[in-house]
This record gives sequence, structure tokens and C-alpha cells, in this order.
Amino acid sequence: MQDNGNKEGPGVAGEPFAAYAEEYRDRFLKHYDELKWLYCELYENRMDAFETLCGTMYRYYRERKKDLKRIDGERLERPDWYKGNRLVGMMLYVDAFAGNLEGVRKKLDYIEECGVNYLHLMPFLDSPEKDNDGGYAVSDFRKVKPSLGTMEQLSRLADDCRGRGISLCMDFVMNHTSMEHEWARRARNGEKEYQDRYYFYDDYSIPAEFEKTVPQVFPTTAPGNFTWLPDMGKFVMTSFYPYQWDLNYWNPAVLNDMIDNVLNLINQGIDVVRIDAVPYIWKQLGTNCRNLPQVHGIVRMIRMICEIVCPGVLLLGEVVMAPDKVAPYFGTVEKPECHMLYNVTTMASTWSSVAARDARLLKRQMDILSRLPREYVFLNYLRCHDDIGWGLDYPWLAGLGMGEVSHKKYLNDFFTGCIPDSFARGELYNSDPASGDARLCGTTASLCGVEKARVEQDKAALSRAIKLDLMLHAYMFTQSGIPVIYSGDEIGQENDYSYHEDPVRREDSRYLHRGKFRWDLEERRKEKDSVQARIFDEIGRMEEIRGRHPVFESDADVWTADTWEDSVLCVIRAKGDEKLVALFNFSEWDKTAWINEDDGEYVDLISGRTMEAKGVDIPGYGAYWLLKKSQMQEEQEA
Ligand code: GLC
Repeated sequence: MQDNGNKEGPGVAGEPFAAYAEEYRDRFLKHYDELKWLYCELYENRMDAFETLCGTMYRYYRERKKDLKRIDGERLERPDWYKGNRLVGMMLYVDAFAGNLEGVRKKLDYIEECGVNYLHLMPFLDSPEKDNDGGYAVSDFRKVKPSLGTMEQLSRLADDCRGRGISLCMDFVMNHTSMEHEWARRARNGEKEYQDRYYFYDDYSIPAEFEKTVPQVFPTTAPGNFTWLPDMGKFVMTSFYPYQWDLNYWNPAVLNDMIDNVLNLINQGIDVVRIDAVPYIWKQLGTNCRNLPQVHGIVRMIRMICEIVCPGVLLLGEVVMAPDKVAPYFGTVEKPECHMLYNVTTMASTWSSVAARDARLLKRQMDILSRLPREYVFLNYLRCHDDIGWGLDYPWLAGLGMGEVSHKKYLNDFFTGCIPDSFARGELYNSDPASGDARLCGTTASLCGVEKARVEQDKAALSRAIKLDLMLHAYMFTQSGIPVIYSGDEIGQENDYSYHEDPVRREDSRYLHRGKFRWDLEERRKEKDSVQARIFDEIGRMEEIRGRHPVFESDADVWTADTWEDSVLCVIRAKGDEKLVALFNFSEWDKTAWINEDDGEYVDLISGRTMEAKGVDIPGYGAYWLLKKSQMQEEQEA
């Protein structure tokens, strides 16, 4: 393709530009200059490679099913479709939940009963039996792991989800492939073309330079960022596990082929693509190889490619980074990158507040978030498949007299049940003796004390634990964005210790909270007063309330109020004529929230009680959603 700078001029993959379908041409033209600019800047004017990319894009547009194009059209009409308060998510492992994809399809009624209309299936593509990092070491992007099903079954599941109004999310692991992937195998066999897709070094001199500036992801379970391959006589870059070889995005063939892979998956009917470990994809000597400007360039390109080929699809960035590194992945309002990001700092701050019985850090975090543009959509969660890393605002905590090292130690001791007043049952993850650093694993219920209370048959402690669990869910539902439940949490599922016995998994304590879904316990949610019923029904009720009130929509005004009580958080939301004063007691003791909101009556949406929003007494681990009664409401009742 000769680019003559004339918008009518450039053709793509032998096809004249004008031959594009009209809607596609319009979308392509809208982004053409910026896409070409970014691509050529990254790849030194490799127009041949750019032409290949454009050809790929149009091919997937043409192959895209009518039904998916219809959804694209509808979502273009309502670009805010995923904002608001309508979506409730759940993330689950296909095998742990229902054996395989067909099993998940058969359980869609249950998913709907959970009030869920956004379903994130954890990695299900082909990966080795042994070294697979829970599916995050993909050996074939074109194939579903045979034990989980086939591509046809994926499409069928996606069709059924679409029919029920459930959006389907999947992971796109783009930083690395498994060493069993065809590219890796061919590289190993000496094919230069494939060696160029990874970072290989003949000796340790360059790796040694990298190691001076690049931190380690798994310091204990997979130390170092390189792996020696004796058969090749080379080092290969492996930021995560030694069997996950980092892809070399300096090579445009890698980006092109990975775009080909993701578009192929999207066309099976995927609505949301979770771009796994995205901050890591660009490596440069002398840097920490995280969040480099080129990463943002690539994410922006992926966003434009989706807007051109499949505009109904959303990008969810997995950016588990320090607080100030996260929001930049939204891009700017004019040049957006991800549609959604994990609210990781709030998640970690929430658990810190639980252990400290002190919500001041969370108040600050809410204040920071409420200053961000309303366009930004966060995915809110309490737990996910990964560990909890203590990425907190330490400079601010220092002002409260909490040091980083001592506070982390306290959190880890508390959540592993090592200190006398702890009710939590977690395990450490990647505890690094050198730095004293460690992260944490465990299910919501076990971290909240449900497990300990059950084992000790302590009824009062069990009630307290359930209250805490529900208070945390209420708080998650109060945040703007999309709440995502970690499968099993809806029935208060506890830790699964069986991974200790599994030779493949025992080194990775994240399997503590990746246990098989307990359908036997799920059954018990139908028994009145069972732990399962108490949690399941209440979460369902809160979801329903949240969906009914516009005040929970993403674009509501949000601010916090002082409660003059360190353990009580007050979040206020306002939209239209609705105002909500939400209170959360992060301690087990009864407290008073010394707020003084405007006169009038409020009704607690959770308990149905009417009260004033002044000097509110709130029980230990209590949660209130005080909705101001509008004049209209009061008149109606009079
Ligand atoms: C992401 C995943 C995590 C995985 C890592 C490497 O962070 O969430 O589970 O280990 O990527 O792929």
C-alpha cells in the first residue's frame, strides 16, 4: 500500500479503500491518521506491517456475525450502555464452577439468580497441564483447553449469554505465551523469525543490566526476570513464571498476530476483553519495564482497532499498580484507552480498614476517586483470583503514624490470624524474606471470620462475621462503577486447603481462594437462617435496591463527610432528586457517626427504618443506606 496522504487514496491489503463497507469506512477514517501515526512511530514507519494489520482488521469486520454487528450498532447508539447502575458482575473459573463451558451454559439460570449480567470467565484457552499459572500461560490462542470445551461451545455459550442480556468477559494474556506455544517451540528449534518474538540473550550481561532496574513479580515462587534455557544456550525474559515467556512487542509481527488472535476471540461473541498484566508489555533497558509510554500507545491502538472493527466491545485493563499509575490507563477523554479499570487501591484500602478498624484511609481514597472524570468506570471488587497486594497510600498513612513496613506486617499478621484479636484466616503469598514484603490470600468469608467462627462453633462470632461480610458488600455496591462478585462469595464460601496436597499447585497460595464451587453449600441457601441464605439473600437484595435507584448510577455526585469517628465511613451520593447518605462501621463496636446532614427524614434502604441523618448510632459492622425522602415521597405518604 502506498500512502499518498490522500484519505480516498490508501487501499488495504489489495482492496481499494472505497470498497470498504460504508460503516466500516467511516469508523476507519475517523481513526486512520492517529492509528497510522502511533503505529509508524512505534515501528519506524513499517508501512508493510501496518498494511497487514489493516487487512486483518477488515477481515474480522467482514467475518463478524450479523448479530454481533447488530449489538455493535445498538451500543454505538448508547455508548454509555455499561455505565449507570445496571451491571452486576461475577468472575469464575469454568472448571471450578461447572466443569466445562457446557456446564457453565447449563448454570446460566443460577448466574441470573445471583442478579449477575456480566460474567467474567477466567482463562479457558489451551494451556499446559502442569505449568499453566491458572490458565495465564496460553499455549494456543485459537483453541479452548480441551478439558473445558471447544471454540464452538464458547460461541454457543456467548450466544446464550447474549440472549439473556449477560455480557461475557474473557482474559487476553498479551504479555507472554506459555513456553509450549507454537512460537516458543519454533524459537527453541532455532527459527530466527520466532526467536525475534521473545527476548533472548546469549549471555547474562544484558539480563544483569535489566535486573538492576526491574522489580520482581513473584520474588519467592519465581525469582528473577530471566530463565536460562540449557538446550538453547540462551536466557529468555520471563517476568512472571519461567514457563511464561515475555513477548517482544518491539517486533510488529507480535502486535499484528496478537491483534489477529484477540479479534478472532472477540468474534466468538466476547463483550469485554480483560487485557491481562498490560502495564508490563513494553520492555526497555534502564527502566522498570512498567507503564512505559509505549504501553499506552499500544493500548490506545487496541482501543481504536476495537472501535473500528467491533465497537460494541469494551476493554478492561488489568492494572494492578501504585495508585497514581492506574487512572492514566483510561487515557484522556479525547483519546481514551481502557473503558474500565480495576479499583485496586480501593480494594486493598478496604481490607486495610477492616484490620485497622479505621476508615480514614478509605475516606481519602474515596475523595481522590470522586475528583476523577465521571467517564471513568471502575470495576469494584472485594476479592478476585489473585492475592491482595498492599498497594496503599503510604505517604499519607505516615501522617497518621503508620509506617509502610510496620503496617504491612500488621495487615499480614492480622489476616493470617497471627494476632490475638484476629478473626481472619488467610495465608501469605510470595512472602519475601529479603524485603520482608508479602501479599495475602483468602476468600472474603474466611477473611471476615466466617471460617474461624464456624470451626469454633461460636454463634455470636459467626453473626459478626456475616455482618462484616455484608457490610463490605454494601460498601462495594455504593462505589461508582461495576461491582464484581468473586464466585463463591455470594454463598460465603471459605478457603479451600486442598491445594496443599496438589503437587502442581501447592507452591501457589492463590489456590486457597480458587477452590471448587461448593454446590452442596449452594443448596443450603434455600434453608432459612443458614449462613448461605443470610449472605446470598442479602447480597441479592442490595443488588436489587442498587439497580432501582438512580443515585447509584456512575455519574452521580459523590463525596464523603466527616463522621468524627475513625472507624465509620460516610459516603454521600446525589443524582437528580435523590440523595443517599451511606454509613459503614468498620469496627465490631457500636459507634455514633457525628454527621449533620440536612433536615428531613431519611429511610434506610437496607433495613427500611426511618431516621434522621444526624448523630447516627450505628452498630458494629453496620451499614446504612439512608435515602433522603423527597418532598414528593413525604407528600405521598401524608
Ligand atoms: C495477571 C493475572 C495473574 C497472573 C499474571 C500473569 O496478573 O491476574 O493471575 O499470574 O497476570 O499472567
